[in-house]
Amino acid sequence: MSCREKQQQIKETVSKICAEFNNDPNELIAILHKTQGHYGFLPKEVQIAVAESVGVPASKVFGIVTFYSYFTMEPKGKHPVSICMGTACYVQGAEKVLREFESRLEVKNGQTTDDGKFSINTLRCIGACGLAPVVMIGDKVYGNVKPEEVNNIINEYS
Ligand code: FES
Repeated sequence: MSCREKQQQIKETVSKICAEFNNDPNELIAILHKTQGHYGFLPKEVQIAVAESVGVPASKVFGIVTFYSYFTMEPKGKHPVSICMGTACYVQGAEKVLREFESRLEVKNGQTTDDGKFSINTLRCIGACGLAPVVMIGDKVYGNVKPEEVNNIINEYS
């Protein structure tokens, strides 16, 4: 598929999603949520298509995408690592767990490894505070995670 065709296809898909929300700029977050659900992430060309469909500057869409940690501009890895940074997890050492994942996988929060296997992102409270600090890999939940356990967890997926 040529670049032009790809762009055209993105435009059509995105305009359908936006139409479901009446192209209402006040629904931008919901629109981006649904669009990310479709593509898995929000690359620049998709953000531009959303901006054009609802009639707002691309910078506004970009601002929302970068502000909310839920949104991502990069495709997630095959095994997305999500680290809870809610208060309970944070006070139980979630940041150290995050740093350990970053150093073991050699990518930063928000990035995906070169082989596409893992990506790292952070979440707000996922409602499992009793297990703090909590890490999810895909749908699997790990509780009471200590930095020294991170390597073993990663090895489960290697
Ligand atoms: S703060 Fe992490 S699960 Fe609630």
